[in-house]
Amino acid sequence: MRIAVIGAGTMGNGIAQVCAFHGHQVYLQDVDPKRLEIALSGVRKSLGRVTRDLDVEARESKISETLARIEAGTDLTPLADVDFVIEAVFENLEIKCQVFEKLDKVCGPDCIMASNTSSISITRIAAITSRPASVIGMHFMNPVPVMKLVEVIRGLETADASFEKTKDLTLGLNKVPVEVKDFPGFVSNRILLPMLNEAMFVLMEGIARPEDVDTVFKLGLRHPMGPLELADFIGLDVCLDILDVLYEGFKDPKYRAAPILRQMVAAGRLGRKSGRGFYSYPAK
Ligand code: CAA
Repeated sequence: MRIAVIGAGTMGNGIAQVCAFHGHQVYLQDVDPKRLEIALSGVRKSLGRVTRDLDVEARESKISETLARIEAGTDLTPLADVDFVIEAVFENLEIKCQVFEKLDKVCGPDCIMASNTSSISITRIAAITSRPASVIGMHFMNPVPVMKLVEVIRGLETADASFEKTKDLTLGLNKVPVEVKDFPGFVSNRILLPMLNEAMFVLMEGIARPEDVDTVFKLGLRHPMGPLELADFIGLDVCLDILDVLYEGFKDPKYRAAPILRQMVAAGRLGRKSGRGFYSYPAK
C-alpha cells in the first residue's frame, strides 16, 4: 500500500517506520525540513534497535530496505496517489482541522484518512471534510515500534468499509486493533491521564517525592514507568492538551489539570523532549 504520514514528530516517525518495515511505500510529510531530517535519523536509530536479534547481513539489508521505502518531503502533492493517510501533527483541533481541509482537497476519492489524535473527536475532524465516511481514528502508542496497541476510533459517520480497511492495515503492521467509540480520550487516555494528573496533585500536596511516587507504581503495580516518569515521556504539553480535551468534553471537574502541570508547561518544562520536566534529562 502507499501510505502518507503527516507530521514528523515522535509519533509520525514511529508510524512511518512501522509502515515501511512491514512493506508499505511511505511518504513522510512535514512543513519543517529540519524535522524531517531529525525524523529519518531517529528512524535509522530505532530500526537498529528492532533488528538487534538479526545477524549483521540480514540486519543491514532490513534497515536499508526499510529506509528505502520512506520518502520525505514538505510538499502535499504526492498525496494524490496514496491509499491511506495517517495524520500525526500537533494535538490541537484547529491545526488538525486545517490539515484535514488540505488532505480533503489533495487525496484521491478512495483514500482513507486517519488521525492519530490521542483525544480529539474524530467526528469533529471528519465534519471538516467532504467525506466523513472515510475518516477514522488510528491511535498508536509511544514508542510506536514497541507498543502493540492501536485504538481504532469510529467517528459517527465512519463507514464500515473504512473501519475494516483500517483494522486490516493495523493487523498487517503486527499490531492489535481495538475498536473504540468516539468519546473524549477514547479508552486509553480517558483512564491514563486522570491517573497521571492525580500523581501530580499528590506531588503538589507534598505527599511524596517524584521518585517515590514512581517507585510505588513500578515496584507495587509492575508498571514499566511511574506516572511522573511517563508524563515526562509523553510530554507535559501533550498531557495538558489531553486533560483540557477531557475537561471540555465532559464538563466534569474530575478532569481539571493539576495547576503544577499548567505551570510547568508555561515555563517550557515539557518533559524529556525539552530536557526538563518532573526530572532532568541532560543532553547526551
Ligand atoms: N524504537 C525501537 N525500539 C525501542 C524503542 C524505540 N523508540 N524504545 C525502546 N525500544 C525497545 C528496546 O530496543 C528494547 O527491545 P528488546 O526488549 O528487544 O531489547 C525494549 O524496547 C525495551 O527498551 P529498553 O530496554 O531500552 O528500555 P526499557 O526496558 O526501559 O523500556 C519502554 C522502554 C518500552 C519505553 C518502557 O519503559 C515502557 O513500556 N514504558 C511505558 C510506555 C507507555 O506506557 N507508553 C504509552 C504512553 S501513552 C501513549 O502513547 C498514548 C498517548 O496518547 C499519550
